[in-house]
Amino acid sequence: MTPNFSCGRTCVIHRLLMPILGLSLIMFWGCQPVDTASIVPDSNASSAEADSNSSQDEHSDPAHDEGADHDQAESDHADGDHDHGTDGEHDEGDHDGDSEHQAAAASGTSASGADDSPIEVVLGNPLLTSGIPGEGSLTLEEIKIFINDPNNHRPLSVSLPLGLSAAQENIVGIKENPMTIAKIELGRQLYFDTRLSKDNTVSCASCHAPDNGYAKDTKFGVGIDDQEGGRNSPVAYNRIISGAQFWDGRADSLEAQAVGPIENPIEMGNTHENCVNTLAGIEGYKVQFEKIFPDGVTIDNVGKAIATFERTLVTAPAGYDYLEVVRGIESQWGEDLDELEEEDPEVFAEYSDAQKVVANLSESTIRGRDLFFSEKTNCTACHAGANFADELYHNLGVGMEVEKPDLGRFAETNNDIDRGAFKTPTVRNVAMTGPYMHDGSQKTLEEVVEWYAKGGHANPFLSEKVKKLELTDQDKADLVAFMKEGLTSDLPPVETGRLPQ
Ligand code: HEC
Ligand code: HEC
Repeated sequence: MTPNFSCGRTCVIHRLLMPILGLSLIMFWGCQPVDTASIVPDSNASSAEADSNSSQDEHSDPAHDEGADHDQAESDHADGDHDHGTDGEHDEGDHDGDSEHQAAAASGTSASGADDSPIEVVLGNPLLTSGIPGEGSLTLEEIKIFINDPNNHRPLSVSLPLGLSAAQENIVGIKENPMTIAKIELGRQLYFDTRLSKDNTVSCASCHAPDNGYAKDTKFGVGIDDQEGGRNSPVAYNRIISGAQFWDGRADSLEAQAVGPIENPIEMGNTHENCVNTLAGIEGYKVQFEKIFPDGVTIDNVGKAIATFERTLVTAPAGYDYLEVVRGIESQWGEDLDELEEEDPEVFAEYSDAQKVVANLSESTIRGRDLFFSEKTNCTACHAGANFADELYHNLGVGMEVEKPDLGRFAETNNDIDRGAFKTPTVRNVAMTGPYMHDGSQKTLEEVVEWYAKGGHANPFLSEKVKKLELTDQDKADLVAFMKEGLTSDLPPVETGRLPQ
């Protein structure tokens, strides 16, 4: 999962990323009494700074040191548990009638009258996805302690990490389906649970696997009974800033997308009815659905929970993002860079942290960055914005050579211009997600760059933005280096087990 060249990088990432909230979120898992003032950061930068410095050591590096981080969470949890036993207020919560909790969840007020104010968090925080601490299957007891903590139902006010943060305004879906820690955790369980499929063999993760960058290293998705679909599995990360889903955009939200594979005969092969019955029959799921959603276990709520989990899967800052920081500060300060340390120590610290990462980037990567953004290659005509994806559909001629090609977006719109057009995929972390293109026809990034160099595959509907490129061998190598080295970053470590018994 961790790109092998990022040793020096993740520490910096972490320093910039690990929010003030790191430790506080652990407390929620453990159901400790919560001092709101210490959790919800105010906008006061200096107190935030002090806090993040102290959490930094505790969470030295989630990606490189998952084990240690996990231990940290566990031991905190142990403390929390202990507190839980002696904490009357929370115990009372446990005995509250379910209906009261449900009403509370529906109305947005918490049953115990606890704080309902939003919790601010930077996505990518590993604590959102590390599961309820502990080992093995989740026991009903563990689930009840977790689900009865009102803090796990407080709305999250999320922001994006450096790099993606430029797309904060493009966040979609969370007004309609607010994020909470409890909903993320339920979605995490469902995402990894093969019991959603007809024969208990396939989960979302079968085709969108954390080890394959939330895509899959097969040409096509492989579902129940080893059946193959006709399209390559796209990535399930950075979805929070993406509207329409699928290569042809046929699902208009993540929620709508998530329930599709369950009843797709060659993916999970189930019916929605059967899936809901199965989940309602698992007590650990039932209690979670009923606390989180006023209408309990329904297929729409399965979609909402899974979509909420997917929205936590965001790419950490990559080498490219630090390069932009360094270039931005240098162009702003110019000759006066020497004075930066004294005049603005905070920006100076940001600058020198970013510079350490940039120092490890190869010349080839840096040249590739400039090529990628140049008119010579035109890559950013479509791979645009913070996620390097314009969310539009284009025909590059992929798969168009056969007699009856997959017409992609055309099936949705019936517009000729959409014949053979597919949604632009992100190129963040693209080194992890081969094979490439909607049909998995290209194995390597080198092959992809050759495809663009020759101007795609000629066909009557080829995008006007795709033209033959005059690229030297060095140019091609630089583009590949940029994508591999400059755009690869960590994804949050995710607990893949810990499902209800
Ligand atoms: C059998 C393999 C398989 C399974 C199981 C599967 N998917 Fe997919 N997924 C795919 C393929 C293939 C596509 C692209 C299909 C298309 O575009 O027509 C896709 C598309 C997606 C997309 C759209 C991404 C984008 O960029 O538009 C998301 C999100 C997604 N799947 C999430 C999930 C979730 C959540 C589950 C579990 C409920 C799941 N998938 C189960 C193979 C699978
Ligand atoms: C006209 C818009 C457009 C331009 C210009 C463009 N791309 Fe793409 N890119 C796409 C689309 C659309 C796809 C998916 C096409 C398909 O599967 O049929 C894609 C796929 C890719 C993929 C495969 C990603 C995956 O997950 O399968 C990579 C890598 C890539 N492009 C890199 C580049 C580079 C490098 C350039 C510049 C040389 C570039 N693109 C220029 C739209 C574009």
